[in-house]
Amino acid sequence: MAPRYFICFLALISLMITNTSAHKACHPDDLKGLYGFKSCIHSDTSGRLSKWKGQDCCNWPGISCHNTTGRVKEIYLPGYYVDGDNESPKIVSSTMSGSISSSISLLTSLEVLNLNKLVGLTGPIPQSIEVLKNLKEIILHTNQLSGAIPECIFTNLTSLTTLNLGNNLLTGGISESIGNLQELKKLTLSNNSLTGTIPHSITKIRSIFGINLDKNQLVGGIQCPSSPGQWPSINYLVLENNRLTGSIPNSVGYLTTLSTLSLSYNQLTGPIPSCLGNIKNLQTLKVNNNQLSIDPISFSRFTELSVLYISQNKIQGPLPACLSSFKYLTNVDVPFKRSASLSIGVHKQ
Ligand SMILES: *[C@@H]1O[C@H](CO)[C@@H](O)[C@H](O)[C@H]1NC(C)=O
Ligand SMILES: *[C@@H]1O[C@H](CO)[C@@H](O)[C@H](O)[C@H]1NC(C)=O
Ligand SMILES: *[C@@H]1O[C@H](CO)[C@@H](O)[C@H](O)[C@H]1NC(C)=O
Repeated sequence: MAPRYFICFLALISLMITNTSAHKACHPDDLKGLYGFKSCIHSDTSGRLSKWKGQDCCNWPGISCHNTTGRVKEIYLPGYYVDGDNESPKIVSSTMSGSISSSISLLTSLEVLNLNKLVGLTGPIPQSIEVLKNLKEIILHTNQLSGAIPECIFTNLTSLTTLNLGNNLLTGGISESIGNLQELKKLTLSNNSLTGTIPHSITKIRSIFGINLDKNQLVGGIQCPSSPGQWPSINYLVLENNRLTGSIPNSVGYLTTLSTLSLSYNQLTGPIPSCLGNIKNLQTLKVNNNQLSIDPISFSRFTELSVLYISQNKIQGPLPACLSSFKYLTNVDVPFKRSASLSIGVHKQ
Protein backbone atom coordinates (compact mmCIF):
# COMPACT_ATOMS: atom_id res chain seq x y z
CA MET A 1 0.00 0.00 0.00
CA ALA A 2 1.46 3.37 -0.99
CA PRO A 3 2.10 5.59 2.07
CA ARG A 4 -0.33 8.21 0.83
CA TYR A 5 -3.17 5.69 0.72
CA PHE A 6 -2.10 4.24 4.04
CA ILE A 7 -2.46 7.64 5.74
CA CYS A 8 -5.81 8.02 4.09
CA PHE A 9 -6.80 4.57 5.36
CA LEU A 10 -5.74 5.49 8.94
CA ALA A 11 -7.67 8.72 8.73
CA LEU A 12 -10.75 6.81 7.64
CA ILE A 13 -10.40 4.30 10.51
CA SER A 14 -10.00 7.08 13.10
CA LEU A 15 -12.99 8.85 11.62
CA MET A 16 -15.05 5.69 11.98
CA ILE A 17 -13.94 5.25 15.59
CA THR A 18 -14.82 8.81 16.60
CA ASN A 19 -18.12 8.51 14.83
CA THR A 20 -19.19 5.32 16.57
CA SER A 21 -17.92 6.10 20.06
CA ALA A 22 -17.22 9.60 21.29
CA HIS A 23 -20.03 11.82 20.02
CA LYS A 24 -22.62 10.00 18.00
CA ALA A 25 -24.47 12.61 16.04
CA CYS A 26 -27.86 12.03 14.51
CA HIS A 27 -28.58 12.88 10.91
CA PRO A 28 -28.88 16.69 10.68
CA ASP A 29 -32.44 16.47 9.34
CA ASP A 30 -33.51 14.27 12.26
CA LEU A 31 -31.95 16.73 14.74
CA LYS A 32 -33.61 19.69 13.07
CA GLY A 33 -36.95 17.88 13.00
CA LEU A 34 -36.80 16.87 16.66
CA TYR A 35 -35.61 20.28 17.92
CA GLY A 36 -38.46 21.77 15.87
CA PHE A 37 -40.90 19.37 17.55
CA LYS A 38 -39.54 20.30 21.00
CA SER A 39 -39.85 24.02 20.30
CA CYS A 40 -43.62 23.69 19.72
CA ILE A 41 -44.23 21.97 23.07
CA HIS A 42 -44.34 24.65 25.75
CA SER A 43 -44.97 22.43 28.74
CA ASP A 44 -44.01 18.81 29.50
CA THR A 45 -44.79 17.63 33.03
CA SER A 46 -42.80 14.41 32.47
CA GLY A 47 -39.50 16.23 31.91
CA ARG A 48 -38.64 13.92 28.98
CA LEU A 49 -38.09 16.74 26.51
CA SER A 50 -35.70 18.57 28.85
CA LYS A 51 -33.33 15.63 28.26
CA TRP A 52 -33.34 16.30 24.52
CA LYS A 53 -29.89 17.95 24.41
CA GLY A 54 -26.83 17.65 22.23
CA GLN A 55 -26.66 15.63 19.02
CA ASP A 56 -27.08 11.97 20.03
CA CYS A 57 -30.83 11.96 19.51
CA CYS A 58 -31.07 8.16 19.36
CA ASN A 59 -30.48 8.11 23.12
CA TRP A 60 -33.08 10.74 23.95
CA PRO A 61 -36.18 9.65 25.88
CA GLY A 62 -38.91 8.52 23.51
CA ILE A 63 -36.69 8.23 20.43
CA SER A 64 -35.61 5.01 18.69
CA CYS A 65 -33.45 4.77 15.61
CA HIS A 66 -32.90 2.22 12.86
CA ASN A 67 -30.02 -0.04 13.87
CA THR A 68 -28.49 0.07 10.38
CA THR A 69 -29.09 3.59 9.06
CA GLY A 70 -29.14 5.42 12.39
CA ARG A 71 -32.15 7.45 11.24
CA VAL A 72 -35.01 8.16 13.67
CA LYS A 73 -37.65 5.45 13.46
CA GLU A 74 -39.97 6.16 16.40
CA ILE A 75 -41.26 9.06 18.43
CA TYR A 76 -42.90 7.35 21.42
CA LEU A 77 -44.01 9.88 24.01
CA PRO A 78 -47.34 8.72 25.45
CA GLY A 79 -48.88 10.49 28.44
CA TYR A 80 -48.97 7.25 30.48
CA TYR A 81 -45.78 5.20 30.40
CA VAL A 82 -43.49 3.03 32.47
CA ASP A 83 -40.32 4.72 33.68
CA GLY A 84 -37.33 3.52 35.71
CA ASP A 85 -35.41 0.26 35.46
CA ASN A 86 -36.81 -3.26 35.43
CA GLU A 87 -36.40 -3.62 39.20
CA SER A 88 -38.35 -0.52 40.17
CA PRO A 89 -40.65 0.37 37.29
CA LYS A 90 -43.09 3.16 37.93
CA ILE A 91 -46.10 4.32 35.98
CA VAL A 92 -45.90 7.99 35.07
CA SER A 93 -48.95 10.03 34.16
CA SER A 94 -47.99 13.25 32.43
CA THR A 95 -49.25 15.90 30.07
CA MET A 96 -47.74 18.05 27.37
CA SER A 97 -49.19 21.18 25.89
CA GLY A 98 -48.41 22.72 22.56
CA SER A 99 -48.83 21.74 18.95
CA ILE A 100 -47.31 19.18 16.59
CA SER A 101 -44.59 20.96 14.62
CA SER A 102 -44.66 20.59 10.86
CA SER A 103 -40.88 20.04 11.16
CA ILE A 104 -41.56 16.33 11.85
CA SER A 105 -41.61 16.02 8.06
CA LEU A 106 -37.79 16.12 8.23
CA LEU A 107 -37.78 12.72 9.99
CA THR A 108 -38.02 10.90 6.69
CA SER A 109 -37.49 7.40 8.14
CA LEU A 110 -40.17 7.77 10.81
CA GLU A 111 -42.38 4.69 11.23
CA VAL A 112 -44.12 5.36 14.55
CA LEU A 113 -45.57 8.63 15.84
CA ASN A 114 -47.15 7.94 19.24
CA LEU A 115 -48.23 10.98 21.26
CA ASN A 116 -51.32 9.51 22.93
CA LYS A 117 -52.95 10.79 26.17
CA LEU A 118 -50.79 13.90 26.40
CA VAL A 119 -54.14 15.68 26.78
CA GLY A 120 -52.79 19.11 25.83
CA LEU A 121 -51.79 18.84 22.19
CA THR A 122 -53.85 21.38 20.26
CA GLY A 123 -54.09 22.67 16.70
CA PRO A 124 -54.17 20.69 13.49
CA ILE A 125 -52.40 17.51 12.43
CA PRO A 126 -49.70 19.00 10.16
CA GLN A 127 -50.24 18.53 6.45
CA SER A 128 -46.46 18.12 6.08
CA ILE A 129 -46.63 14.49 7.29
CA GLU A 130 -47.57 13.57 3.72
CA VAL A 131 -43.88 13.03 2.94
CA LEU A 132 -43.45 10.44 5.72
CA LYS A 133 -44.12 7.45 3.49
CA ASN A 134 -42.68 4.95 5.99
CA LEU A 135 -45.20 5.80 8.71
CA LYS A 136 -46.88 2.65 9.98
CA GLU A 137 -48.49 3.92 13.18
CA ILE A 138 -50.03 7.31 13.91
CA ILE A 139 -51.36 7.26 17.47
CA LEU A 140 -52.51 10.67 18.66
CA HIS A 141 -55.61 9.78 20.69
CA THR A 142 -56.75 11.72 23.76
CA ASN A 143 -55.54 15.20 22.97
CA GLN A 144 -57.31 18.31 21.72
CA LEU A 145 -56.30 18.22 18.08
CA SER A 146 -58.67 20.14 15.86
CA GLY A 147 -59.42 20.77 12.20
CA ALA A 148 -59.96 18.16 9.53
CA ILE A 149 -58.02 14.92 9.17
CA PRO A 150 -55.49 15.83 6.45
CA GLU A 151 -56.52 14.18 3.17
CA CYS A 152 -52.85 13.24 2.59
CA ILE A 153 -53.03 10.68 5.42
CA PHE A 154 -55.42 8.70 3.24
CA THR A 155 -53.86 9.40 -0.16
CA ASN A 156 -50.13 9.22 0.63
CA LEU A 157 -49.41 7.23 3.80
CA THR A 158 -50.09 3.83 2.30
CA SER A 159 -47.88 1.91 4.77
CA LEU A 160 -50.15 2.74 7.71
CA THR A 161 -51.23 -0.21 9.83
CA THR A 162 -52.65 1.79 12.76
CA LEU A 163 -54.41 5.15 12.67
CA ASN A 164 -55.74 6.21 16.07
CA LEU A 165 -57.00 9.79 16.30
CA GLY A 166 -59.75 9.10 18.88
CA ASN A 167 -60.74 11.50 21.68
CA ASN A 168 -59.84 14.72 19.91
CA LEU A 169 -61.79 17.63 18.45
CA LEU A 170 -61.48 16.71 14.79
CA THR A 171 -64.13 17.89 12.35
CA GLY A 172 -64.96 17.30 8.68
CA GLY A 173 -65.43 14.03 6.88
CA ILE A 174 -63.62 10.73 6.40
CA SER A 175 -62.12 10.76 2.92
CA GLU A 176 -63.19 8.24 0.30
CA SER A 177 -59.41 7.86 -0.33
CA ILE A 178 -59.22 5.73 2.84
CA GLY A 179 -59.47 2.72 0.52
CA ASN A 180 -55.82 3.43 -0.44
CA LEU A 181 -54.67 2.25 2.98
CA GLN A 182 -54.30 -1.39 2.00
CA GLU A 183 -52.15 -2.28 5.04
CA LEU A 184 -54.48 -0.74 7.63
CA LYS A 185 -55.43 -3.01 10.51
CA LYS A 186 -56.78 -0.69 13.18
CA LEU A 187 -58.77 2.45 12.47
CA THR A 188 -59.90 4.48 15.50
CA LEU A 189 -61.55 7.85 15.00
CA SER A 190 -63.92 7.62 18.02
CA ASN A 191 -65.15 10.60 20.00
CA ASN A 192 -64.51 13.44 17.58
CA SER A 193 -66.99 15.61 15.67
CA LEU A 194 -66.68 13.91 12.31
CA THR A 195 -69.54 14.40 9.89
CA GLY A 196 -70.60 12.97 6.53
CA THR A 197 -70.95 9.34 5.59
CA ILE A 198 -68.74 6.30 6.17
CA PRO A 199 -66.81 6.01 2.88
CA HIS A 200 -67.73 2.97 0.82
CA SER A 201 -64.04 2.40 -0.05
CA ILE A 202 -63.48 1.21 3.55
CA THR A 203 -64.95 -2.11 2.39
CA LYS A 204 -61.90 -2.53 0.10
CA ILE A 205 -59.37 -2.64 2.98
CA ARG A 206 -58.73 -6.39 3.19
CA SER A 207 -56.19 -6.08 6.03
CA ILE A 208 -58.66 -4.48 8.46
CA PHE A 209 -58.89 -5.95 11.97
CA GLY A 210 -60.87 -3.34 13.88
CA ILE A 211 -62.90 -0.21 13.17
CA ASN A 212 -63.98 2.30 15.83
CA LEU A 213 -65.92 5.26 14.48
CA ASP A 214 -68.16 5.63 17.54
CA LYS A 215 -69.17 8.97 19.13
CA ASN A 216 -69.20 11.13 16.01
CA GLN A 217 -71.96 12.63 13.89
CA LEU A 218 -71.76 10.27 10.95
CA VAL A 219 -74.86 9.88 8.79
CA GLY A 220 -75.99 7.48 6.07
CA GLY A 221 -75.79 3.71 6.06
CA ILE A 222 -73.49 1.07 7.52
CA GLN A 223 -70.70 0.13 5.10
CA CYS A 224 -69.87 -3.53 4.98
CA PRO A 225 -68.44 -5.67 2.12
CA SER A 226 -71.16 -7.06 -0.11
CA SER A 227 -69.46 -10.39 -0.78
CA PRO A 228 -67.73 -12.95 1.49
CA GLY A 229 -64.00 -12.84 2.29
CA GLN A 230 -63.40 -9.11 1.73
CA TRP A 231 -62.70 -8.44 5.41
CA PRO A 232 -61.14 -11.82 6.25
CA SER A 233 -59.69 -10.70 9.61
CA ILE A 234 -62.28 -8.28 10.98
CA ASN A 235 -62.63 -8.62 14.75
CA TYR A 236 -64.64 -5.58 15.83
CA LEU A 237 -66.88 -3.02 14.17
CA VAL A 238 -67.93 -0.24 16.53
CA LEU A 239 -70.19 2.45 15.06
CA GLU A 240 -72.31 3.35 18.11
CA ASN A 241 -73.40 6.90 18.94
CA ASN A 242 -73.69 8.33 15.44
CA ARG A 243 -76.68 9.24 13.28
CA LEU A 244 -76.62 6.22 11.02
CA THR A 245 -79.83 5.30 9.21
CA GLY A 246 -81.09 2.45 7.04
CA SER A 247 -81.06 -1.20 7.92
CA ILE A 248 -78.29 -3.55 9.06
CA PRO A 249 -77.16 -5.16 5.78
CA ASN A 250 -77.56 -8.93 5.54
CA SER A 251 -73.94 -9.00 4.34
CA VAL A 252 -72.74 -8.56 7.97
CA GLY A 253 -73.33 -12.31 8.03
CA TYR A 254 -70.21 -12.65 5.80
CA LEU A 255 -68.01 -11.27 8.59
CA THR A 256 -67.41 -14.68 10.11
CA THR A 257 -64.43 -13.55 12.23
CA LEU A 258 -66.35 -10.76 13.96
CA SER A 259 -66.43 -10.91 17.76
CA THR A 260 -67.89 -7.45 18.55
CA LEU A 261 -70.59 -5.58 16.66
CA SER A 262 -71.74 -2.34 18.26
CA LEU A 263 -74.38 -0.23 16.53
CA SER A 264 -76.15 1.25 19.59
CA TYR A 265 -77.55 4.79 19.65
CA ASN A 266 -78.17 5.29 15.94
CA GLN A 267 -81.37 5.54 13.93
CA LEU A 268 -81.27 2.10 12.34
CA THR A 269 -84.48 0.50 11.16
CA GLY A 270 -85.61 -2.90 9.90
CA PRO A 271 -84.94 -6.32 11.41
CA ILE A 272 -81.77 -7.55 13.09
CA PRO A 273 -80.60 -9.94 10.35
CA SER A 274 -80.90 -13.53 11.42
CA CYS A 275 -77.68 -14.34 9.50
CA LEU A 276 -75.80 -12.70 12.40
CA GLY A 277 -76.56 -15.96 14.18
CA ASN A 278 -74.14 -17.68 11.74
CA ILE A 279 -71.18 -15.76 13.12
CA LYS A 280 -69.77 -18.30 15.52
CA ASN A 281 -67.23 -15.86 16.99
CA LEU A 282 -69.75 -13.13 17.83
CA GLN A 283 -69.62 -12.50 21.58
CA THR A 284 -70.78 -8.91 21.92
CA LEU A 285 -73.81 -7.51 20.13
CA LYS A 286 -74.95 -4.00 21.01
CA VAL A 287 -77.88 -2.67 19.02
CA ASN A 288 -79.84 -0.88 21.77
CA ASN A 289 -81.42 2.54 21.18
CA ASN A 290 -82.36 2.19 17.52
CA GLN A 291 -85.68 1.42 15.83
CA LEU A 292 -84.86 -2.17 15.00
CA SER A 293 -87.30 -5.01 15.05
CA ILE A 294 -86.31 -8.30 16.59
CA ASP A 295 -87.81 -11.63 15.70
CA PRO A 296 -87.53 -13.97 18.72
CA ILE A 297 -87.55 -17.07 16.49
CA SER A 298 -84.46 -16.09 14.51
CA PHE A 299 -82.91 -14.58 17.62
CA SER A 300 -82.88 -17.92 19.40
CA ARG A 301 -79.91 -18.82 17.11
CA PHE A 302 -77.63 -16.23 18.75
CA THR A 303 -76.89 -18.50 21.70
CA GLU A 304 -73.11 -17.95 21.81
CA LEU A 305 -73.35 -14.28 22.84
CA SER A 306 -71.96 -13.18 26.19
CA VAL A 307 -72.91 -9.49 25.94
CA LEU A 308 -76.23 -8.42 24.48
CA TYR A 309 -77.75 -4.93 24.52
CA ILE A 310 -81.07 -4.81 22.71
CA SER A 311 -83.36 -2.51 24.74
CA GLN A 312 -85.01 0.62 23.32
CA ASN A 313 -85.96 -0.95 20.00
CA LYS A 314 -89.17 -2.33 18.55
CA ILE A 315 -89.09 -5.67 20.28
CA GLN A 316 -92.02 -7.88 19.42
CA GLY A 317 -92.89 -11.06 21.23
CA PRO A 318 -91.39 -12.89 24.21
CA LEU A 319 -87.67 -12.28 23.61
CA PRO A 320 -86.53 -12.62 27.25
CA ALA A 321 -87.83 -16.20 27.32
CA CYS A 322 -85.56 -17.28 24.46
CA LEU A 323 -82.56 -15.72 26.24
CA SER A 324 -82.68 -18.42 28.92
CA SER A 325 -81.11 -20.83 26.41
CA PHE A 326 -78.10 -18.55 25.79
CA LYS A 327 -75.10 -20.37 27.24
CA TYR A 328 -72.59 -17.61 27.94
CA LEU A 329 -74.68 -14.52 28.54
CA THR A 330 -73.13 -12.49 31.38
CA ASN A 331 -74.28 -8.99 30.49
CA VAL A 332 -77.67 -8.17 29.02
CA ASP A 333 -79.80 -5.03 29.15
CA VAL A 334 -83.25 -6.61 29.36
CA PRO A 335 -84.56 -8.54 32.36
CA PHE A 336 -84.74 -12.29 31.88
CA LYS A 337 -84.70 -15.45 33.98
CA ARG A 338 -82.08 -18.04 33.29
CA SER A 339 -82.76 -21.69 33.99
CA ALA A 340 -81.30 -22.54 37.44
CA SER A 341 -78.41 -24.69 36.17
CA LEU A 342 -77.08 -21.79 34.07
CA SER A 343 -77.45 -18.97 36.56
CA ILE A 344 -73.77 -18.28 37.26
CA GLY A 345 -72.36 -14.77 36.81
CA VAL A 346 -75.33 -12.92 35.42
CA HIS A 347 -75.00 -9.14 35.64
CA LYS A 348 -78.11 -7.30 34.69
CA GLN A 349 -77.70 -3.71 33.65
C1 LIG B 1 -31.74 -4.67 13.62
O1 LIG B 1 -33.15 -4.64 13.68
C2 LIG B 1 -33.74 -5.73 13.08
C3 LIG B 1 -35.26 -5.48 13.04
O2 LIG B 1 -35.70 -4.76 14.13
C4 LIG B 1 -33.37 -6.99 13.83
O3 LIG B 1 -33.99 -8.11 13.24
C5 LIG B 1 -31.85 -7.14 13.79
O4 LIG B 1 -31.48 -8.26 14.56
C6 LIG B 1 -31.19 -5.90 14.33
N1 LIG B 1 -29.74 -6.00 14.11
C7 LIG B 1 -28.86 -5.68 15.05
C8 LIG B 1 -27.42 -5.77 14.65
O5 LIG B 1 -29.19 -5.33 16.19
C1 LIG C 1 -49.44 12.57 -2.43
O1 LIG C 1 -50.33 11.92 -3.31
C2 LIG C 1 -50.78 12.74 -4.36
C3 LIG C 1 -51.84 11.97 -5.13
O2 LIG C 1 -51.43 10.65 -5.38
C4 LIG C 1 -49.58 13.12 -5.23
O3 LIG C 1 -50.00 13.98 -6.28
C5 LIG C 1 -48.56 13.86 -4.36
O4 LIG C 1 -47.40 14.14 -5.11
C6 LIG C 1 -48.19 13.00 -3.16
N1 LIG C 1 -47.33 13.79 -2.27
C7 LIG C 1 -46.14 13.37 -1.93
C8 LIG C 1 -45.38 14.28 -0.99
O5 LIG C 1 -45.64 12.33 -2.30
C1 LIG D 1 -63.81 12.42 24.38
O1 LIG D 1 -62.63 13.14 24.10
C2 LIG D 1 -62.39 14.22 24.98
C3 LIG D 1 -61.17 14.97 24.47
O2 LIG D 1 -60.02 14.22 24.53
C4 LIG D 1 -62.22 13.69 26.39
O3 LIG D 1 -62.03 14.75 27.28
C5 LIG D 1 -63.46 12.89 26.79
O4 LIG D 1 -63.27 12.31 28.04
C6 LIG D 1 -63.74 11.82 25.76
N1 LIG D 1 -65.01 11.17 26.05
C7 LIG D 1 -65.12 9.86 26.16
C8 LIG D 1 -66.49 9.36 26.44
O5 LIG D 1 -64.16 9.10 26.03
